[in-house]
Amino acid sequence: MPPTGKKDVMRRIRSVSGRHRVVFAALSVTLALACAGDAADAPDVRATGELGLAAAQRGESIYNSNCNACHSTGSDTRVGPGHAGVFQRAAGRTGLSAEEYLRQSIIDPSAFVVDGFAPVMPATFGSSLTDREIDDLIAYLRTL
Ligand code: HEC
Repeated sequence: MPPTGKKDVMRRIRSVSGRHRVVFAALSVTLALACAGDAADAPDVRATGELGLAAAQRGESIYNSNCNACHSTGSDTRVGPGHAGVFQRAAGRTGLSAEEYLRQSIIDPSAFVVDGFAPVMPATFGSSLTDREIDDLIAYLRTL
């Protein structure tokens, strides 16, 4: 190998640190995305303002395609009870908080069966919906 000049060495150092810079930038982006993902995965179901509204709107469309065959958003009974005021009732159903009770009702409906109804709500939503979709549904139920 011919002796390397100072220029070559400098170029090599620069290209190595350049590569590190790229790796570092990629890591920062990944980290930023991971953090953003975390925040998005755990929305506050009691969020108000635009955040809460957006969650409730997403929840409404999830509701319309998964729930309203059996539930009305009023107080009339379909296969299951009407959901008007369900968030307020939820807090008194069991020892759970309203959010916890609604989450349980969606994921594990037979854990508590509302008086006068058959335990026919499908127990599949815990796997067919994501945690975030369930949070959105709860945000929507809260508005009924
Ligand atoms: C096949 C019919 C059916 C579907 C579909 C269904 N449910 Fe139900 N649901 C019921 C019945 C029946 C009950 C009452 C018996 C019970 O508590 O399991 C009920 C109970 C509930 C309760 C408890 C209500 C209360 O007053 O305590 C909640 C909350 C609920 N459902 C939410 C949902 C949501 C959200 C969806 C859609 C993701 C959904 N259900 C889809 C039939 C259904």
